[in-house]
Amino acid sequence: PEARKYKVAKTYEAAGERVKVSGWIHRLRSGKNHVFVVLRDGSGYLQAVLTGDLALAHQTSTLTLESTVTLYGTISKLPEGKVAPGGVELLVDFYEIVALAPSGEDAFTNKIAEGADPSLLLDQRHLALRGETLSGVMKVRAAFLRSIRRFYDEEAILEVTPPCMVQTQVEGGSTLFKLGYYGEEAFLTQSSQLYLETCLASLGDVYCIQESFRAEKSHTRRHLSEYTHIEAELCFLNFDDLLGHLERLITKTIKYVLEDPVAGPLVKQLNPSFEAPTMPFMRLEYKDAITWLNEHDIKNEEGETFKFGDDIAEAAERKMTDTIGLPIFLTKFPVEIKSFYMKRCPDDERVTESVDVLMPNVGEITGGSMRIESTEELMAGFAREGISADPYYWFVDQRKYGSCPHGGYGIGTERILAWLCDRYTVRDCSLYPRFTGRCKP
Ligand code: 4AD
Ligand code: MG
Repeated sequence: PEARKYKVAKTYEAAGERVKVSGWIHRLRSGKNHVFVVLRDGSGYLQAVLTGDLALAHQTSTLTLESTVTLYGTISKLPEGKVAPGGVELLVDFYEIVALAPSGEDAFTNKIAEGADPSLLLDQRHLALRGETLSGVMKVRAAFLRSIRRFYDEEAILEVTPPCMVQTQVEGGSTLFKLGYYGEEAFLTQSSQLYLETCLASLGDVYCIQESFRAEKSHTRRHLSEYTHIEAELCFLNFDDLLGHLERLITKTIKYVLEDPVAGPLVKQLNPSFEAPTMPFMRLEYKDAITWLNEHDIKNEEGETFKFGDDIAEAAERKMTDTIGLPIFLTKFPVEIKSFYMKRCPDDERVTESVDVLMPNVGEITGGSMRIESTEELMAGFAREGISADPYYWFVDQRKYGSCPHGGYGIGTERILAWLCDRYTVRDCSLYPRFTGRCKP
């Protein structure tokens, strides 16, 4: 009889039809007269059952986990009380083995044994990705990126693709990856911010979704050597507008993800207690954060009481964020602990119009600021940081030929996902994470 080719997820609406579905054997269990298979093809999971001759002829000794098969049969709706993905079951009447995976010592389950050393699992990342949790996070990730593009479209912000190979730094020289470039020195980009700024006069508000690279020496839960950086640069706005934009971005994008038919239920599964953030976010100035930290007896990196000008490092930041338990806009950092391009506050020259967005369980997920508009001030910024202005002539020209009030930010995709999906580390939110000592597979 006729069989129409289907993706697994589409079979959920195909009750009564005879279908043909290809995929991988995700689970396998054999009973006396039945063989139960859960077929996986990326779009979903399908429970299939082999009975009678098929079950007898091809007992589990033939089929193995992670073998590729094409199943033929009729989709039937499961009665109330029985559960399977999509509420359906495939009654198999014929099947083909596309490729048989090994059994015995080389069997799939031996490669990624549960509870194995995390570094062994990272060596086997290509296989571990077939698991429900990791692939679930990757599906949420895709929905998140789709949602953020939707948000930018709605706000009429244009996507551009800046270069990854550059000759300037943005966030400090110590984390630059050097690159031989036809006999010249170049770097892998730390941030596309400066390039986005140059687009304002030609394209207006712009954003990019681009890999950033940081040679981070420290081994932490939230640092990668390569991460997906979402950055935007917006013109003719003030600091309050920038914060408002960030609030809208986060609440709307998360809403879209939760409404997604695939990603929404996955977030519920991965992070059952997740609550979508609501506006307005708490605003906390750096100087008040210092007071808060001291009132809560949290110490700085040197183990001492915090004083104005100290960096609020990861541990203290996380303690504060977890205690408050809500999204926080931490604003107005001192000039000295922030980057050369940040604009000073008109009412307090010691601090900048800067913001870090902090989320419970992760801490900083976004860093942004208003940018210096005048060439003179920018030159002073370079001088303060000991950076030669020469390679930045193109960035300086942005001030020279029609400067404008503008600001922007960068969001760490893996960090926002770690918050959304409740992952212990950002490594679980990257397809093939790169960090100190890890560049394979
Ligand atoms: O705070 P950062 O360093 O800011 C910038 O790069 C600005 N130039 C961005 C801009 O304004 N266009 O990085 C921005 C965000 C951080 O808040 C964090 O979420 C993420 O990028 N991030 C990292 N994520 C994973 N691993 C790392 N090593 C990261 N470094 C920064
Ligand atoms: Mg930062």
